[in-house]
Amino acid sequence: MQLPTDPHSHAGSSPVRVRHLVLDLLVDFDTRSLTGSATWHLANPDAAPEVVFDVRDLTIASVESVDSDGNATTADYTLTTPDPVLGQGLRVSLAGATTLRIGYRTAPTAAALQWLVPAQTAGTQPFLFTQSQAILARTWLPCQDSPGIRFTYEASVRVPAHLLALMSAENPQQLTASGEYRFRMAQPIPAYLMALAVGDLAFAPLSARTGIYAEPATLPVATHEFADLEKMVAAAEQLYGPYRWDRYDLLVLPPSFPFGGMENPRLTFVTPTILAGDRSLTSLVAHELAHSWSGNLVTNATWNDFWLNEGFTVYFERRIMEHLYTGEYADMLQVLGRDTLHHTIAEIGEASPDTHLRLNLAGRDPDEGLTEIAYEKGCSLLLTLESLVGRTHLDTFIKEYFAHFSFQAMDTATFLDYLRTELLNKEPGLEARLQLSDWVDGPGLPTNVPAVASRRFAAVDQVLAELSTGTAPATLLAGTADWSSHEWLHFLHGLPPTLSAAQLQLLDETFQFTASGNAEILAAWFPHTLRAGYAAATPALEHFLRHVGRRKFIVPLYRALLATPDGQARAHYIYGVARANYHSVATSTLDALLAERT
Ligand code: BES
Ligand code: ZN
Repeated sequence: MQLPTDPHSHAGSSPVRVRHLVLDLLVDFDTRSLTGSATWHLANPDAAPEVVFDVRDLTIASVESVDSDGNATTADYTLTTPDPVLGQGLRVSLAGATTLRIGYRTAPTAAALQWLVPAQTAGTQPFLFTQSQAILARTWLPCQDSPGIRFTYEASVRVPAHLLALMSAENPQQLTASGEYRFRMAQPIPAYLMALAVGDLAFAPLSARTGIYAEPATLPVATHEFADLEKMVAAAEQLYGPYRWDRYDLLVLPPSFPFGGMENPRLTFVTPTILAGDRSLTSLVAHELAHSWSGNLVTNATWNDFWLNEGFTVYFERRIMEHLYTGEYADMLQVLGRDTLHHTIAEIGEASPDTHLRLNLAGRDPDEGLTEIAYEKGCSLLLTLESLVGRTHLDTFIKEYFAHFSFQAMDTATFLDYLRTELLNKEPGLEARLQLSDWVDGPGLPTNVPAVASRRFAAVDQVLAELSTGTAPATLLAGTADWSSHEWLHFLHGLPPTLSAAQLQLLDETFQFTASGNAEILAAWFPHTLRAGYAAATPALEHFLRHVGRRKFIVPLYRALLATPDGQARAHYIYGVARANYHSVATSTLDALLAERT
């Protein structure tokens, strides 16, 4: 199978590939640096005279060739001209070497790393976490940072006493006296799934193979919220085959974590903003768990094929939720997802190639092109396929796809070939009815997409209709008593953009949005309050922006803030205070957004 070259990695310029990593790191909170070495065992050292790694903002101290007796000799290397997004190629002459040891140090500004002071945590200790996807692994270790290149690893990490270190690997469940931790990842993974977190962390088991790591203050809340974790893993296995990574644990991060979740193998990282108290936001965990198949087992070959990771994962996520909590529950998720899709297409522009499933991100920061399209249009393609071939056939296909391509990379062309052979070619006219090329290489949303509907949202639409005819919110309260977060989100998305501050105040007095402890609800409510100038929500909004770093929430809020009359000044003021709490993934987006309008 000939895979395309990855436009976002230097590693493709030489055919020599890594196969195993021995990582040795010292974590220093004072200098905000990781110092140590990455020893790379090569798979096919004879394939070319040199091997190429990706590095970005790393200080390279030494490059040595290590022989089988452990003797080291200096190796010749050069660094290519730095690119702000791609970093540099580290080209090392092999001269017979099969193992290379690279001594290095990270920069305090390394884009993958967020160093937190105690005030940014729930406790009294500093915290560090990494976020490697899409191409940030190269900012904390020299690596072949391309999703199509996999390796196993072992690591030794030294941290200050009383802090626990965790990785995307076999993890400790207790502190060591020395502050030294050893890790092993026996299954081969790509570099974007390399992860490290260090902090005042404790562990609580949920089942024999699942558990939660969190700061001690957060752990009880988290174990309550994620009580169904084992059921999710069991449901996922029943749907699409065995879980191949042994344990499945969650790490609940401090609120500055820039994403909802990150599917680091064996240890999903999650935002604490899904701790709603009522277990209503756990589809995010089902999503990250589903990546243990779509993404971590069968991996997008390049970021142009991102939909193969995310589209399958969204479809799979909702199948898990349906299995655990009924079809009615999954229907709500599908409708919310479809709304997001329409919204995203409108935002990106109906005709834009960024609305295609197969992307062309060469020459751009992949972070800019990885949008909700991959997630929701990808899921919608699978729903369309389901409507044409039926669930039984689709499920068999997906299960065999995961089994057949386990621990391999997949690009869109190879997937299409496989889909044709296994499914489409078995029935004349099927591919045409699927409108496959419109889905993959065409803009917007193809006409054959099945409609999605939710019975529970019909009740919400009813309340919205009554409100629009002038019915007082208070008289509608009883009818909302059994609403979950999803109904409230649908409600908030459906509120007309013309309500006055006085009308919002009435809604707030009745439904208590500003006082909500649910971050999804707050993030859907604040744009209304900003647009209408409902000032009573301002302190809660500012508190939210100062504490939460989840990009999906804060970027739209800054946008809404900028659109208000004195928004420029307010946005810059709040950002000035809050920026230090955000990860580079969020500040790179927000720096650009706030600069645009000045
Ligand atoms: N793998 C993604 C996060 C990601 C994508 C990081 C692209 C960097 C680049 C993760 O699985 C994800 O999709 N997270 C979502 C939650 C999900 C429920 C849609 C998020 O963080 O919002
Ligand atoms: Zn995902």
